[in-house]
Amino acid sequence: MSLYSKIGRELFFKLDAERAHGLSIRGLQSGLHPRFDAAFDQRLAVEIADLEFTNPLGMAAGYDKNGDVPDALLALGFGHTEVGTVTPLPQPGNPKPRIFRLKEDEAVINRLGFNSKGHAAALAQLKKRNARSGIVGINIGANKTSIDFGADYVKGIEVFGAIADYFTINISSPNTPGLRALQGADPLADLLRRVDEAVNATGRITPVFLKIAPDLSETEIDDIAKAVSKSNVDAIIVSNTTLSRIGLKSGSITQEAGGLSGAPLFERSTIVLAKIYARLEGKIPLVGVGGVHSFETAWQKIEAGASLVQLYTGLIYEGPTLPKTILSGMSKQLDQEGLSSINDVCGRSNDDWAKRDLLEA
Ligand SMILES: Cc1cc2nc3c(=O)[nH]c(=O)nc-3n(C[C@H](O)[C@H](O)[C@H](O)COP(=O)(O)O)c2cc1C
Repeated sequence: MSLYSKIGRELFFKLDAERAHGLSIRGLQSGLHPRFDAAFDQRLAVEIADLEFTNPLGMAAGYDKNGDVPDALLALGFGHTEVGTVTPLPQPGNPKPRIFRLKEDEAVINRLGFNSKGHAAALAQLKKRNARSGIVGINIGANKTSIDFGADYVKGIEVFGAIADYFTINISSPNTPGLRALQGADPLADLLRRVDEAVNATGRITPVFLKIAPDLSETEIDDIAKAVSKSNVDAIIVSNTTLSRIGLKSGSITQEAGGLSGAPLFERSTIVLAKIYARLEGKIPLVGVGGVHSFETAWQKIEAGASLVQLYTGLIYEGPTLPKTILSGMSKQLDQEGLSSINDVCGRSNDDWAKRDLLEA
């Protein structure tokens, strides 16, 4: 058990979740955090979308919304980190409290609603970066009051086009009314066309990742797979938080509105990931997110079809040495199986996961 699990978590959990988040950002800014060499084992290197990731593990969007600590996150061992979601204009998000810990479930419910300092502030932060190693994606979204969500994604591409290693088009937050409707066949095709035009107009070909929800039917999964295969999307991130509350143990707090993340999301998001992988016959790389909190869960995502894995809630429960634990576990597993690359693991248990029924909401 890490020092964080023993002491740090107790202290952090005494604070309101959002204050604890702010404190952890300041901890990272201070430089007094654990460090782990993201490139310690070359067998963990992954290349997708013409980007070379030193390892498959990334920090998911939502932790570093304004680009305050990308390099500190990379120093924990992550091979990439995703800044955002950033909206064009600053907006406060929903009233507090809006993040809830479901301790017995090792889960979180959040209804932040894209609290963001806006494009200009995040751009200014990212321009201050000295270090340039490690991959930093920019996750872009739409302002709540925008009358044309598509135009907000285009703005994000224009603003961050010169510095983003990749873009994530986030159409899957449950906390911005109407946003998830962009996942439908026609709106999605239209959005992806506008995104593609915007990327081309920057004169620099930045890869585009699409982030989807886990609350999808078989037909909706088909629609997304079809729209993506007709587009220039480079990867799909599966998934955002869920609206489901099935099987939770943490009492009345489980009824708070918002998106659920953490351990209870693992199975649902991994099934959706595997189904998408099967539909696309592995031709478009996937990023597996949802409930990763250990080496075993990260490994299972890759076996189900993920080329990369991201996490957020696992870090809240396990602390900042989690990347080291997961990556060391992967390295050991490759030794045991005599494999020379993590890429050989991708999708090898896809059938088992893809044939499972989607969980009801
Ligand atoms: C507090 C919180 C805020 C989040 N904010 C964002 C966000 O701004 N944009 C986004 O794409 N995902 C956001 N997410 C979703 C995560 O990136 C991730 O997809 C989800 O939490 C599932 O992963 P996990 O179980 O490892 O946390 C947020 C999650 C949490 C817990």
